[in-house]
Amino acid sequence: MISMKKKVLVTGSTQGIGKEIAAQFVKAGYDVIVHCSADIDKANTIKDEIGAYSAVTADLSKLDEVKALYGKTGPVDCLILNASVQYKQHWTEITEAAIDNQFTVNFKSTLLLIQDYYPSMKQNGFGRIVTIGSVNQYRQHPELSMYAATKCAVMSMVKNIAKQVAPFGVTVNNVAPGAIATPRNAAIYNDDEKRRQVEAAIPMGRFGTPTDCAGAVLMLCSPEGSYITGADIIIDGGMRL
Ligand SMILES: NC(=O)c1ccc[n+]([C@@H]2O[C@H](COP(=O)([O-])OP(=O)(O)OC[C@H]3O[C@@H](n4cnc5c(N)ncnc54)[C@H](OP(=O)(O)O)[C@@H]3O)[C@@H](O)[C@H]2O)c1
Repeated sequence: MISMKKKVLVTGSTQGIGKEIAAQFVKAGYDVIVHCSADIDKANTIKDEIGAYSAVTADLSKLDEVKALYGKTGPVDCLILNASVQYKQHWTEITEAAIDNQFTVNFKSTLLLIQDYYPSMKQNGFGRIVTIGSVNQYRQHPELSMYAATKCAVMSMVKNIAKQVAPFGVTVNNVAPGAIATPRNAAIYNDDEKRRQVEAAIPMGRFGTPTDCAGAVLMLCSPEGSYITGADIIIDGGMRL
């Protein structure tokens, strides 16, 4: 039987913020496709845990796998581009490999996937695209020059594309988290001294949680978000201020 539910792909949804976004879409009644880079068992485990619709893999650092992803999922109503990589290296020491990898996963695959998933959204007269940015679009960190640049590049592209696709019922927005307790920064979060250092820079005085971030993504895809496009929703406890 063909499902009448809205379909959503959340990239990088096997852990952290992406997993919580996927879980909240499941609870809201969407058919959710869980995604990660390579480990299909991991993706299927999360799919079963949260009650998602299906699971796929595609390493977004490999262009052939990026280009094959649409063929694996088919069209979706909502595309949540959450997967990213981050290498902490002082700007004088950022390696070419780290430049290329962050550029490809964080920016290039984002554009290529929007190119692939947009035509069916346009045809349906409905589509929701949400990219996940970062407070590093606004703050300077000595070891995140390249990572921050990729997030700024995505934000620029979001605004550009949003303007062009708005007449066709498709919105494009960015959600920019601050310091969020996820496996990515577990080493900092679980170290009392390092955690306190980060928390000292957050006006609300605490790390955020994936739950703090997921609601805004869901809202942007819901009727309540239908007039929001080209926006950047910053969820950082005031960290950028
Ligand atoms: N955590 C924070 O404090 C924070 C702050 C600001 C912004 N963000 C942004 O929020 C998003 C989620 O962050 P997070 O902390 O939840 O990340 P995370 O815990 O590191 O999880 C990353 C997810 O992306 C997937 N992924 C990584 N490399 C991939 C690749 N080459 N191809 C396909 N999938 C890949 C991972 O799957 P695999 O297991 O297969 O690698 C995983 O599911 C990211 O865009 C990040 O930049 C996070």
